[in-house]
Amino acid sequence: MTNLHRHAPLRVALVGLGTVGGGVIRLLQTNGDLIARRAGCPIQVVAISARDRSKARGVDLSPYEWVDDMTTLAARNDIDVVVELIGGADGPALTLARQCLAAGKPFVTANKAMLAHHGLALAALAEKAGIALKYEAAVAGGIPVIKGIREGAAANEISRVYGILNGTCNFILTTMEKEGHGFDDVLKEAQELGYAEADPSFDIDGVDSAHKLAILASLAFGTELDFGNVATTGIRHVIAADIAEAAALGYRIRLVGMAENGPDGLFQRVHPMLVPTDHPLAHVDGSLNAVVVEGNFVGRLFFEGRGAGEGPTASAVVADLIDVARDEYGDAFAMPVAALAPQKTADAGQRVGRSYLRFKVQDRPGVLAEIAAATRDAGVSIESMIQHGTKQQDGVLMAIVTHAGEERCIHETLDRLAGSDSLVQTPMVMHILD
Ligand SMILES: NC(=O)c1ccc[n+]([C@@H]2O[C@H](COP(=O)([O-])OP(=O)(O)OC[C@H]3O[C@@H](n4cnc5c(N)ncnc54)[C@H](OP(=O)(O)O)[C@@H]3O)[C@@H](O)[C@H]2O)c1
Repeated sequence: MTNLHRHAPLRVALVGLGTVGGGVIRLLQTNGDLIARRAGCPIQVVAISARDRSKARGVDLSPYEWVDDMTTLAARNDIDVVVELIGGADGPALTLARQCLAAGKPFVTANKAMLAHHGLALAALAEKAGIALKYEAAVAGGIPVIKGIREGAAANEISRVYGILNGTCNFILTTMEKEGHGFDDVLKEAQELGYAEADPSFDIDGVDSAHKLAILASLAFGTELDFGNVATTGIRHVIAADIAEAAALGYRIRLVGMAENGPDGLFQRVHPMLVPTDHPLAHVDGSLNAVVVEGNFVGRLFFEGRGAGEGPTASAVVADLIDVARDEYGDAFAMPVAALAPQKTADAGQRVGRSYLRFKVQDRPGVLAEIAAATRDAGVSIESMIQHGTKQQDGVLMAIVTHAGEERCIHETLDRLAGSDSLVQTPMVMHILD
């Protein structure tokens, strides 16, 4: 038989055998022949490691060598690449990454938390050793958005990258939209269906989206990764009435991560936004993810697909392994770390746009006038004011949609109202994607 492979097998050590690690093994077992033809060589898992050797994982692990101490992997000559699927910004994942990259061992990971915190330092180690650090699965799971920006759109000046980066939040918001139920009920449903973790805070508080946004921004703009300056608000405080109100006004609420690079610096924010129903993001449903990239020659690119789950995430991890097999390396953030521009954070207060403000107020005369006065004195121009007839247990809901204006005026409005006993709870602000 003719040998169609250009190289000897690529020998892989797989650390972490949970949802994604198990998926990688299943994918390589299922599509191994096709992958070998595409990669130019078979991709062979040689060694595996996780915490608990005795755990049943629904996949045949007998062909692979079990390694108790993952710290031995970096130095092994019979392993060509290490795949880290443990998770966590620090701890064993980071130790393994540092060891492997310092030892000149190509490294593949799906770990957005680690990259958001340590991405530049790890990229510098990979660069020094002249080896690959690959992380397609870390952002938007199965969607090839890292490749899309790093390779497909590499010739463009990218002005804006934004999208729906967390499937759990999108599932919750779109289910609230369809069923009209409250946040807590839908979160419970999402947990029962396996869309949300037992501790969902990283997802619903926007931290997971912020990790991904910081990675995308660095890659898209050629700027230093700056997770610390992603302004982050999650979806905990979105209520069914907001969704109904947004729908009546022609919008859907989505948790949007948005990064822009302009003359004033880098703007990065994750927060629930009102998205017009004719915008493609408004139609991203359930647990799907989507990313929009705007380049000066390519125009608007729209990527949509499964951002999590065993199959899609494994698909992205194995795509990285195929790149390693093909010797397609390149800098992790699309240019040498020293070429990434230092950060200057833009002043979000100067951003101009329309906003939605929702208040829960005491049901008594004069409250509307008090809010109207605060907005007027802060320079906010009101487009519409909606008072819900529905009386809540402890107050009434009212919402304002503003004309386009500087965001600092919205903050000033809230400052003016702070401490007022007319307000029953902290107002909710969502900006409008125009
Ligand atoms: N799940 C997704 O849809 C998805 C999507 C995109 C990216 N990711 C990323 O992929 C990575 C893995 O996620 P996952 O969902 O597969 O996680 P998971 O199901 O919780 O699996 C984690 C694996 O890591 C192992 N592990 C944990 N701590 C360890 C330690 N101290 N030493 C050795 N092994 C350890 C666990 O071992 P035991 O099994 O023995 O306990 C388990 O096999 C994370 O970085 C995550 O952010 C996940």
